[in-house]
Amino acid sequence: MGKVLSIVSQKGGVGKTTTAVNLAAAFARRGLKTLLVDVDPQGSVRYGIGLRKGADTRGFADYMRGARTLREVILPTAMPWLRVMLVGTVTDGADHSDYQSHVAASDLLPRMLQAASERCDIVVVDTPPGLGPITRRVLLSSDRVIVPLQAEPLALQTTPQILRSIQDVVKSNPGLTLDGILLTMFEAGNPSCERTVTYVREHLPGGMVFDVVIPRSTALAEAFAAGQPAVVREPADAASQAYVNLATLLADRLTRPAE
Ligand SMILES: Nc1ncnc2c1ncn2[C@@H]1O[C@H](COP(=O)(O)OP(=O)(O)OP(=O)(O)O)[C@@H](O)[C@H]1O
Ligand SMILES: [Mg+2]
Repeated sequence: MGKVLSIVSQKGGVGKTTTAVNLAAAFARRGLKTLLVDVDPQGSVRYGIGLRKGADTRGFADYMRGARTLREVILPTAMPWLRVMLVGTVTDGADHSDYQSHVAASDLLPRMLQAASERCDIVVVDTPPGLGPITRRVLLSSDRVIVPLQAEPLALQTTPQILRSIQDVVKSNPGLTLDGILLTMFEAGNPSCERTVTYVREHLPGGMVFDVVIPRSTALAEAFAAGQPAVVREPADAASQAYVNLATLLADRLTRPAE
């Protein structure tokens, strides 16, 4: 039985999708059977994961409305151990409210995650920004959660909200563990960035913030634009190495026998 690892944040644009794509690829490179699931109707995963040109954009939303089977929406990638479930054709429309209400009202999302975790070592879930009904549903079905936090002063304001929401979900899903807060887009030498990191480490309980910090790197966005995870395209880049180190730490935790 594999684990479901979700990537969530209150604030948008903090590096959730970048983290989900690169962690999933780094897990797959270690030989872990990995499924990356996108439930965000923005559908960004589709551009960065390296699907073949002209590949079908069917996905979870199409499965949920009965237009596709589960098997049909699990797509291969260029990596042997990595499969992906896109959010689907819902991305092509401007209005995502039907999709959101459908996810909230049906139990297909938890059932799909359960079925996926039975077939994989790890299921990585990329979520929309905020703690709306989709993200709540994902958290209710997750074993672990990572919260990316952009290393900038504004990010701190939303941290208590997300931690409270996770604590709230734990009441209904006691199996959920906060793996950690992941500082992203860190710029060494930038005083505001450095102050934020110091403040976060001083004010949050020890162990809650990963020692690994993701540096700001153009390689991440460039790889995404080229349709490849940076850990594959630019493995020597500092941000890629940080993601690989994080994947090593997480894989070790996930595969360690329960104490
Ligand atoms: N470490 C980094 N260094 C430089 N750019 C980054 C880094 N992480 C993410 N980015 C860039 O920042 C932007 C937002 O990242 P991303 O899409 O991963 O955030 P997100 O949290 O998924 O956003 P949303 O909330 O809209 O889903 C993207 O253009 C991405 O390429
Ligand atoms: Mg995203």
